[in-house]
Amino acid sequence: MSESNLKSMAELVSLSKRRGYVFQSSEIYGGLGSCWDYGPLGVELKKNIQARWWKAMTYREDISGIDASILMHPTVWKASGHIDNFTDPLVDCKKCKARFREDQIDLTKPCPACGEKGSFTEPRAFNLMFSTKMGAVEDAASTIYLRPETCQGIFTNFLNVQATMRLKLPFGIAQIGKAFRNEITPGNFIFRTREFEQMEMQYFVRPGTQMEHMEKWKEIRWNWHLENGLRPERLRWAPHTKLAHYADAAIDIEYEFPMGWGEMEGIHSRTNFDLTQHQQYSGKNLQYVDQADNNNKYIPYVIETSVGSDRTILALMCDAYRLENEGGGESERTVMRFKPDIAPIKVAVLPLMKKTDLEDKARPIFADIQKNYRAEYDTSGSIGKRYRRQDEIGTPFCITVDYDSLTDNAVTVRERDSMKQERIAIDNLKRYLSDKLQLN
Ligand code: GAP
Repeated sequence: MSESNLKSMAELVSLSKRRGYVFQSSEIYGGLGSCWDYGPLGVELKKNIQARWWKAMTYREDISGIDASILMHPTVWKASGHIDNFTDPLVDCKKCKARFREDQIDLTKPCPACGEKGSFTEPRAFNLMFSTKMGAVEDAASTIYLRPETCQGIFTNFLNVQATMRLKLPFGIAQIGKAFRNEITPGNFIFRTREFEQMEMQYFVRPGTQMEHMEKWKEIRWNWHLENGLRPERLRWAPHTKLAHYADAAIDIEYEFPMGWGEMEGIHSRTNFDLTQHQQYSGKNLQYVDQADNNNKYIPYVIETSVGSDRTILALMCDAYRLENEGGGESERTVMRFKPDIAPIKVAVLPLMKKTDLEDKARPIFADIQKNYRAEYDTSGSIGKRYRRQDEIGTPFCITVDYDSLTDNAVTVRERDSMKQERIAIDNLKRYLSDKLQLN
């Protein structure tokens, strides 16, 4: 059997549309630049991944979750440095007005859009935050921003969470939510978009202990990606060569996408910068009273783990994709080899033919399976075609109800990767699936 990996992002974009993972936003209007909608399978995938992250990060004594609002007090972004520093240097072509990031083009060469030579404006700082107006009065004071990162909602709730959950250092606060950046060069499908989702956790520690906590979190986060099923040879560490103004250490986990290595998660030691800034701008005391250390008062240091939900989905889709027996006619198939926990659909129930007696047998089996698993029921087309469709959406098990099922009360269970088939008594199906799927 021959087997090949995903060759291009275009292949994945096409599969995503064909099977209902991801559609272009507002497609019937010609689409909206770099905005994407998760379809019926994509939303399942996303929920599975977010549930795995939530479980890994909050089913522990030392971490609590929150869900802060996207809109925040405008001073938050002054304090965090985003109003002054969250900018990209932009140049415009004087002839065609196309915009580029200064660091991404060679200014001595002709404009990549129109070919005009030496016609760029001086670089200008372009703020990446989306702004909007709050309330009925449109004056400067009503300008607010869509958050460009979720973690500021964690910093501003530091005291609330610490006090209500009676947390002692070290402890963390976790959150999953939307973030928005007016990226100049979005692209590569859902890799870089203007609206995306982050899964972030801030771990508050005693000053001086941040590096030891950073090492622990690096290991935990690396293993999470492996546990999701990503191939280890497609993961690597990428230390930051230039640190952000708030950080004293930073490293990324990168994945090898079809277009090359790209950042998937950042692990940053953010010092006490954010809390110190919020204390100064809000006038509220954000110090922690350390009862374990003579009631010493200080602003905790922070280790942050920040992973893009969309980039995790993209990496898992690229990784799972296999084309088997290319050009082999009937034996050619595309398989998404998701771990069962990640797979959008866990089980498909397929009556061999669209006949009343087979359907009468299959429907109750499907109803029973649906109590525990996201499942599909499909009667359309040949059984071979239905298997191929389920392979392409990564369904780990297909259950076929045939004429023998009417007398022997058993079904054929086909496993996605090996395509091996087993005859299983209907009474044992529940047990069989829970053993094989091993959902956690
Ligand atoms: N709070 C820290 C922070 O936001 P970041 O490195 O700017 O750090 C963290 O972003 C993660 O968010 C990235 O590793 C990436 O997975 C995701 N991310 C950032 N910008 C993105 C974009 N435009 N589109 C999709 N995901 C993005």
